Amino acid sequence: MDNKLKELERKNEEARLGGGKKRIESQHKKGKLTARERIHFLMDEGSFEEIGMLVSHRSFEFGMDKEKYPGDGVITGYGTINGRMTYVFAQDFTVFGGSLSETHAQKICRIMDLAMQNGVPVIGLNDSGGARIQEGVVSLGGYADIFYRNTMASGVIPQISAIMGPCAGGAVYSPAITDFIMMVENTSYMFVTGPNVVKTVTHEDVSSEELGGAVTHATKSGVTHFTCTNEMEGIRFIKKLMSYIPQNCEESAPSYAYEMADESRPALNTFIPENPNQPYDMHEVISSIVDEDSFLEVHKDFAENILVGFARLAGKSIGVVANQPAHLAGVLDIHASTKAARFVRFCDSFNIPLLVFEDVPGFLPGTDQEWNAIITNGAKLLYAFCEATVPRVTVITRKAYGGAYDVMNSKHIGADMNYAWPSAEIAVMGAKGAAEIIFKKEITDAKDPEAKLKEKEAEYIELFANPYKAAEHGYIDEVIRPADTRKKLIAAFNMLQNKVAQLPRKKHGNIPL
Ligand code: HXC
Repeated sequence: MDNKLKELERKNEEARLGGGKKRIESQHKKGKLTARERIHFLMDEGSFEEIGMLVSHRSFEFGMDKEKYPGDGVITGYGTINGRMTYVFAQDFTVFGGSLSETHAQKICRIMDLAMQNGVPVIGLNDSGGARIQEGVVSLGGYADIFYRNTMASGVIPQISAIMGPCAGGAVYSPAITDFIMMVENTSYMFVTGPNVVKTVTHEDVSSEELGGAVTHATKSGVTHFTCTNEMEGIRFIKKLMSYIPQNCEESAPSYAYEMADESRPALNTFIPENPNQPYDMHEVISSIVDEDSFLEVHKDFAENILVGFARLAGKSIGVVANQPAHLAGVLDIHASTKAARFVRFCDSFNIPLLVFEDVPGFLPGTDQEWNAIITNGAKLLYAFCEATVPRVTVITRKAYGGAYDVMNSKHIGADMNYAWPSAEIAVMGAKGAAEIIFKKEITDAKDPEAKLKEKEAEYIELFANPYKAAEHGYIDEVIRPADTRKKLIAAFNMLQNKVAQLPRKKHGNIPL
């Protein structure tokens, strides 16, 4: 028996070494952790249980039968993060560059199947040279097996992808289907075709970092939701993110004990500038209303004219969507619409109530927006809100103009409670534009057209640049003092916590993609 135990230990030790000491050193030299180190820091101490530690590939071409590494370039298993069960896979770059073989894919599929059966989130730590070149089509098949499972799991269990090295070619589509992507600056990249192919096809000279690095995807493409400056920061961040989301679509997110205190926020009464065209930072509104330091922003550097993120209100998770007047006046454009739509759908999939802060002058005009389909893309946000059955509350802080009023979680499309501050302006458009259109003749015929425009603008403001017409119609449930907002929201979400709403029976809707 002693010998047998020794053999077991030798085999396990071999697996733990991955591609060997030299390759581990080279990984460290690049500023990267190994797959095992990443799992060690991600999971609660001693909680990780590995599955398939001794699995190895079955290929023999190109001398592969002589080059085998137990585990085959991916570590898979389960454990806990802050006490909550989580499945994880971590690609091991020290073994064939973390490339995906048939068996490597099978290991990932196995934990995804278990995660689905048990209603547990999956975290993927990606660091891979892509398809195992020596294996050919079986590797491609393996990718497709993963994509299929990613899609089946979407909306059932949360899926999070951390990109901690290369992620190229078709491999990018697995993270893209998952709920959130986090990339590490300078050591990770994602692209469908790399700089060399780009150079050949389009004659563009571009570095990997510029083409598909963390900053590029955080600011230009919006492919990544989060970036971090190093892997440890990224791992800490993922743990924090997990604390806002439930285990699966049947459960609620974890909530934390909260004792009601003085919930009044007097500074908000004087927060909105007198001049309606003066910007202010919506972050300040959010952070003074939600629980202290609880706002975790998603897509922080992309489409900054809208803010989305998780927060807690009296200890309970909520999803926040807010126009940002400090960036492009908070206008809705293509990127803002798709960013918010995806977030709304995540929250609705996983029973996270939605809180909307609204200050929006409308949709962004122009050929660029029209030709790139602001119609279809704006409709995504409209559709996402219409379809959301979680508790939904809106606070209109200032402008709610035109179609954007309807889109931003209005009562008409299913919001449960809508509040407005006295500074709210709920109208078809801004007063000046409105006066110019409806009093065009009167203004041009006037002795002093400018004075006439001012007079008509003032008339329009008096009539519509306020929340009271909407309140008369019941479109606004209550006009509230800004200082009372937090108190009102805690009460409203409490009142809505057992909400049950069902969509009509259908196979699935047809969101305008
Ligand atoms: C097998 C691979 C590999 C791969 C890397 N390696 N990629 N082995 N299949 N795809 C091996 C290398 O041979 C090397 O082995 C080790 O991993 C580390 O690779 P290096 O090149 O030394 O590392 P580095 O300089 O850091 O470069 C990393 C890299 C480069 C940029 C990822 O290796 C690379 O370009 N690899 C090929 C990428 C690629 O074209 N993949 C196929 C994409 S198509 P040793 O023994 O020296 O340690 C694809 C289709 C997916 O993925 C489709 C899904 C639908």
